[in-house]
Amino acid sequence: MYSESANVINNVLRRNGSLKNLVYSSTFQNKKALYALSCETLRYREVLMDIANHCALIKDKQLKNNENLIAVLLYEHLLGKGIKGKHKMIIQKYKSSIHSRCERLKLETGTTDIKNALQKLLPTSDEVISLPKYVRINTLCANKDDIITELNQQFHLTTSNKLEEINQFVYDNDIPDLLKFHPSVDLHHNPLYLSGKLIIQDKASCFPAYILNPPAGSQVIDCCAAPGNKTTHLAAIMNNNGTIFAFDKDKKRVKILQTMVNKAKATCVRAECKDFLSINPMDNLYRKVEYVLVDPSCSGSGMINRQQQFTDEVKSCTDKRLEQLSKFQISIVKHALSFPNVRRVVYSTCSIHEQENELVVEEVYSKFSDKFDVVEVMPGWKFRGRDSYKNGRKCLRMSYEESQTNGFFVACFERIKQSDNVEMETLNHVNTVSSQCSFKSENSPVKVFSNKNMRNKRHTRTLKPKSKKLTQTLRATSHWDVTEVS
Ligand SMILES: C[S@@+](CC[C@H](N)C(=O)[O-])C[C@H]1O[C@@H](n2cnc3c(N)ncnc32)[C@H](O)[C@@H]1O
Repeated sequence: MYSESANVINNVLRRNGSLKNLVYSSTFQNKKALYALSCETLRYREVLMDIANHCALIKDKQLKNNENLIAVLLYEHLLGKGIKGKHKMIIQKYKSSIHSRCERLKLETGTTDIKNALQKLLPTSDEVISLPKYVRINTLCANKDDIITELNQQFHLTTSNKLEEINQFVYDNDIPDLLKFHPSVDLHHNPLYLSGKLIIQDKASCFPAYILNPPAGSQVIDCCAAPGNKTTHLAAIMNNNGTIFAFDKDKKRVKILQTMVNKAKATCVRAECKDFLSINPMDNLYRKVEYVLVDPSCSGSGMINRQQQFTDEVKSCTDKRLEQLSKFQISIVKHALSFPNVRRVVYSTCSIHEQENELVVEEVYSKFSDKFDVVEVMPGWKFRGRDSYKNGRKCLRMSYEESQTNGFFVACFERIKQSDNVEMETLNHVNTVSSQCSFKSENSPVKVFSNKNMRNKRHTRTLKPKSKKLTQTLRATSHWDVTEVS
């Protein structure tokens, strides 16, 4: 049971399913005991790992760095029914060092019983995972310098990204106008927040609007807009110049969206309660739409608050639910790409599941690759999509572990320019032919121009065909201009 419980815990932490589902899909017979052991070990996992680290159990060769197995064994040894079977010997080896660490913890917590001591040491839900707090300066109604001056009365602007002191804050390195505060700071009562000059928004959720980057004067659609964090961010990027059609199909959420839009003074936003899939892309109203943000409903599996609740909060990630979400997400991105003049579409989720992320991108791309490319966004950002997918590395991923944000995913589709389209076809052809060319120096090179009027580097390939015949083939089959160079 110990190994099986460690396996279950491992899967819970990777959010491969809820604790209950994983226990019930296990082949282990005594589900009740397996559930109880896994649930309790998860609860005490942090403090148990503290003990494991202090008594070198973590380095034991037989346990092979299996942290979850170590936690299970320590739980059973200290708080459970005692260890039985082959693992008993391992724990025996460390008995005295476990004991002395426990004595120390009892002393530190002023308790006489190890269970009470460990309970006192259980992290509160706020401490389990501490994300920095992010606020975006709402440049639609606030002047950056004024905001910093005002914040400096209570906090202290620093340049160190680490925020060693609670009262420090710093400009974020990646997103303009975003400020980072210590995890324990709560700005909900701050007058700057209450007046709409500061918007509380996790860093991860700032990426989509920043990447879509519609210029001032653009026509934009935010398909799934409520409660409106990204809509107001888009409005700020456009400096309220242009139009944002902000749709959401949930009536109550549209009310919140409208309140948020009003508070942020985002006057270029037209919020409407509509199912985006019912919007006709050929409607004259949307003829000039060039930028679309798609941030649809998802499993939310990247949200750290859910991660804190190890038990059954992850039930939203069952295979069936993921499949349904994935289908819906694919349909909504496809709909966004079917607006006649759309140039750029950004797709985002707060999910960690490939099925809602890279897989959606691949499926959409396979149907639209003649018109759209998935483009690489923010090449300097280290954490990329899964590279087992063709376009994975062009996409962004975020996670608590890698970027101290909620788990997030962003992809960007861009329309291939018409001229690029023709050029790509020709390039593919020439590349195929050129793969048949050897580079024999005795043959004269052939210059191939994709466009007779544009003989620049981008439109030119120099090939050295193996034989005259290949040159003729090239000339005959390519609609490029083929010229022999002496
Ligand atoms: C992840 S939330 C959007 C968060 C929002 N973009 C923000 O940054 O504040 C997804 C939203 O999509 C809405 N939604 C789901 N299906 C929709 C559809 N077919 N058309 C329009 N909105 C939809 C949901 O009501 C929900 O408010």
